[in-house]
Amino acid sequence: MVRRKFYLFAIVSFLIAIVVVSACAPNPRLQLISPNMVVLAEGETFVPPTPTPRPRIAGLSDEEILAGLPQAVVALIPGDAARGLDLTVPHNCIGCHVTDNSLVDVAPTWFEIADTAVGRAEQLALAGPALYLYNSITNPNEHIVGGYTSDVMPLTYSEDLSNQDMADLLTYLLTLRAE
Ligand code: HEC
Repeated sequence: MVRRKFYLFAIVSFLIAIVVVSACAPNPRLQLISPNMVVLAEGETFVPPTPTPRPRIAGLSDEEILAGLPQAVVALIPGDAARGLDLTVPHNCIGCHVTDNSLVDVAPTWFEIADTAVGRAEQLALAGPALYLYNSITNPNEHIVGGYTSDVMPLTYSEDLSNQDMADLLTYLLTLRAE
């Protein structure tokens, strides 16, 4: 008796499983192509949308790049880019920032950061990209890059870095641009 009940139970479970599995299967009649796709009439040619050009630092003059930066720092620019790069080690910048465009989550990448700074300065109505970089270092909480949180980047760099350090760091960061 117990055995028969067991078989009955097994068969019913099996049937229910089949119904559940078949309900989950994709509908082969479903339209896979997006309904938003444009169907071209005969004779029409496809014009791809023009991507918004990314702002580039290469098109700017030195005055435009350095506009708004404290005069004491401007006076030391161009600084020593190699020394600027060296400073990123003891000050631990590279503990959080990377210079390639791989996926990162600790801090925004420095990949083409000079070009990025041009766009951010425009958005924030700052005088120029060097000023944006300077503010990001000396006062990180003034503007928080989208997707990141405040109070992660140390707030001590305005004290820890001399004007010469700042000039060298900025000179280095301004070299990180598209070819
Ligand atoms: C503990 C991690 C950490 C360290 C160390 C750090 N940063 Fe950052 N940094 C961040 C984070 C997080 C952000 C994004 C949030 C914000 O805008 O403040 C950021 C933002 C920036 C930005 C703006 C980037 C952009 O895409 O607009 C610059 C420039 C920058 N940091 C430079 C530096 C420099 C230079 C140093 C070293 C002197 C440094 N950071 C050290 C975490 C760090």
